[in-house]
Amino acid sequence: MAKPTKKILRSLAGETLPTPPIWMMRQAGRYLPEYRATRAQAGDFLSLCYNPELATEVTLQPIRRYGFDAAILFADILLVPQAIGADLWFVTGEGPRLSTITTDADFAKLKGADDIHDHLAPIYQTVRNLAQELPDETTLIGFAGSPWTVATYMVAGRGTPDQGPAHALKAENPALFDALMVRLTEATITYLDMQIQAGAEVVKLFDSWAGSLKGDDLRKYAIEPAKQIITALKAKHPNVPIIAFPREAGQAYVGFAKTTGADCVAIDNSVSAEWVAKHVQVDGCVQGNLKSSHMVTGGRALVDETRAIVDALSSGPHIFNLGHGITPDADPENVQLMIDTVRSGGAG
Ligand code: CP3
Repeated sequence: MAKPTKKILRSLAGETLPTPPIWMMRQAGRYLPEYRATRAQAGDFLSLCYNPELATEVTLQPIRRYGFDAAILFADILLVPQAIGADLWFVTGEGPRLSTITTDADFAKLKGADDIHDHLAPIYQTVRNLAQELPDETTLIGFAGSPWTVATYMVAGRGTPDQGPAHALKAENPALFDALMVRLTEATITYLDMQIQAGAEVVKLFDSWAGSLKGDDLRKYAIEPAKQIITALKAKHPNVPIIAFPREAGQAYVGFAKTTGADCVAIDNSVSAEWVAKHVQVDGCVQGNLKSSHMVTGGRALVDETRAIVDALSSGPHIFNLGHGITPDADPENVQLMIDTVRSGGAG
């Protein structure tokens, strides 16, 4: 295969670049006035996700403003539960709400993994639009939630601080919980396959609540599903790199890429960049891990911490990113300061 030319693809292929490429989780979002304007035009967040023209527009906004090296499809991990039949809505200022899956009867009402595509057709259209419209040097990233993280929302019907309802269900009715995990694993594979066919050049798996799984549970509900999804996608699309984000996996970051087949692991900010260089980057590309609060506070601390991360990860493949999504109270000027710091030779 020809060597990739886009910076993100070069890093994902294992190249160590003099300056790491950059993108940012939730880079299209409420901290940007242009996002808020387009969201108002769409009416609400979900209408924005399902409107290919406006979802394309908000995906492009941070590319135009900052020239990030990657664009991430504008959508949400909770569109898959909705596509298999859960009700989904967002409560302003609070977050997502879903109809819950707690009994065998609830599960029996869900659709099959292959029945999601009519519902998700607008998302595939957004990917096709972006593949056409992005600048030549910008990489297009598709994504899905990991089965465990998506299941935590489907069981509880909302976000929870400790994912208690999902932990309870897997203890009380493991057959039901496992059936839900299998359905979500299959749906995630077919969803990401379709995104790749529509033009996504990289896909990312968000396991935001991996950190609440310990020991054998972590293996069974985070590592194994990631491995199954990655193996299935690689069989069909061997050249499409995959980023895994087992957030707050801690020690389990070590070897995660090797075990699952991921080309890159995204690192939250609970671990230091020095530790990552020593224990994770030895296996390949890493992405991360600036604390998102620096995008609110800015100043010297932002510059120093950005430089420290670039420096610590400079001897291996690295994609600069935050440790979690940027928050609505972030200052757009701080994002520019972060980018300038990385691109002006942040190791200095
Ligand atoms: O990164 C990107 O810019 C791509 C788009 C994207 C969104 N959500 C847009 C969004 C991605 C990749 C996600 C992933 C996602 N969604 C995750 C995993 C990553 C993470 O943050 O841990 C999770 C857990 C969700 C579920 C979700 N969506 C929650 C809990 C919320 C509410 C919290 C909040 O910030 O209000 C959302 C809403 C959401 N998803 C917004 C955006 C831009 C804000 C919606 C708005 O405009 O009101």
